[in-house]
Amino acid sequence: MANLTVGAAMIDLPLYRTENIRWQALEVSRKSRAALLNQRPAVVWLTGLSGSGKSTIANSVEKLLNGKGRSTYVLDGDNIRHGLNRDLGFTNEDRIENIRRVAEVAKLMADAGLIVLVSFISPFRAERQLAREMMEKGEFFEIFIDTPIEECAKRDPKGLYKRAMAGEIKHFTGISSPYEPPENPELCLRTVDSDPYQLAIQIEALLDARP
Ligand code: ADX
Repeated sequence: MANLTVGAAMIDLPLYRTENIRWQALEVSRKSRAALLNQRPAVVWLTGLSGSGKSTIANSVEKLLNGKGRSTYVLDGDNIRHGLNRDLGFTNEDRIENIRRVAEVAKLMADAGLIVLVSFISPFRAERQLAREMMEKGEFFEIFIDTPIEECAKRDPKGLYKRAMAGEIKHFTGISSPYEPPENPELCLRTVDSDPYQLAIQIEALLDARP
């Protein structure tokens, strides 16, 4: 067989990096956007196990705020994984990228003046800390939806715990993939024997207590 070179390529990585990109200055500020909406933006970050009640509480908070004329949006893990993050699975790397992207989206939405409710398991402290650091001071609220795994597995609203315990789902949070509870959340909500509406009121009160 003739040992001929049939092609050569150079991988031009800088093409994918930000070296040739400058920040474009824009004249309408986040302050004037928020002023139009007559509210202070916020990122309310709900973290907890699957089945802990994050989405139920996020939904309840949004209903409360929307009813009072606030402009809101819920970013929900299951929903975002249908679109923007449909290319991601549940390995550690994919979860890290999942959280990085949703934190960027939440930041943009807060820049647009919205009160954003983020409902993602977000199992790793480091990524939640990164999300916190990306937001404006005083606009990030980490809320731990503190439901014991036994209770989540009992609720099992999507039947996933049953399948994970049977070994049918790999990397399942709390079973075959770790969950790191927050150490200093702005609020810790225990959902056992609690009414989601009452918990939502606590989140609303936290936002209202801001100077
Ligand atoms: S995260 O860990 O990357 O933050 P995310 O909140 O986006 O997770 O998605 C979690 C949802 O995906 C769960 O509520 C559940 O419905 C579903 N899911 C599917 N597979 C898994 C898995 N291996 N671990 C956890 N949740 C899973």
